Amino acid sequence: MAKVFISDHPLIQHKISIMRQQTTGTKEFRQLVEEVAMLLGYEALRDLPTELVEVQTPLEKCQVPMLAGKKMAIVPILRAGLGFVSGIQALVPSARIGHIGLYRDPVTHEPHEYFCKLPAHLEERVVLLVDPMLATGGSAVDAVNLVKQKGANNIKAMFLVACPEGLARLQKEHPDVDIYIGAMDRELNEHAYILPGLGDAGDRIYGTR
Ligand code: PRP
Ligand code: URA
Repeated sequence: MAKVFISDHPLIQHKISIMRQQTTGTKEFRQLVEEVAMLLGYEALRDLPTELVEVQTPLEKCQVPMLAGKKMAIVPILRAGLGFVSGIQALVPSARIGHIGLYRDPVTHEPHEYFCKLPAHLEERVVLLVDPMLATGGSAVDAVNLVKQKGANNIKAMFLVACPEGLARLQKEHPDVDIYIGAMDRELNEHAYILPGLGDAGDRIYGTR
């Protein structure tokens, strides 16, 4: 079974608590998504492969670690996952970016694909799927299916807020995927929204509705 990391970092907890508040506006919410993405990304990427490379310092030559292999791929699940990208890109500016467009049917809560454009050679890259919410887990499971169909075999998935139902589904369908979560909430309501949650992440990031 792959890794499941649930953050207990006070900075992440504090920032997500502000995001939960109904009174937090779009500008601040967007800024906080970016900050939490960076903090959580730091944890998710701590096992990126490195190799020793020779450099010349002002004083001498030495062997130093640098990131190895093909550049990693960041893959946001549209639309809300886009809010994560700039935070991760600040950590790994050379990362390639893919996009997977999924929306949840409001009645069945099943995801529907409307876009998928991924970098080449995913089989040689660390793929970091990003989405603020892991609710029923349907969107995350489909997104992992899509990157696997394109060859990905080293996949990490990162969420701001998750719930037990979504985590169990993602782990059951994709036991090989490492999962990183900012906060683990209680349950889903009858509309498959996370409780206490932060509402509709896409609407809060983009100021829609
Ligand atoms: C939200 C969220 C996830 C999905 C999670 O997106 O960003 O992608 O729901 O729910 P699930 O785990 O039950 O599949 P939504 O479908 O609302 O689309 P949006 O990002 O365009 O608002
Ligand atoms: N999508 C969201 O944006 N929020 C939830 O709580 C569940 C799905």
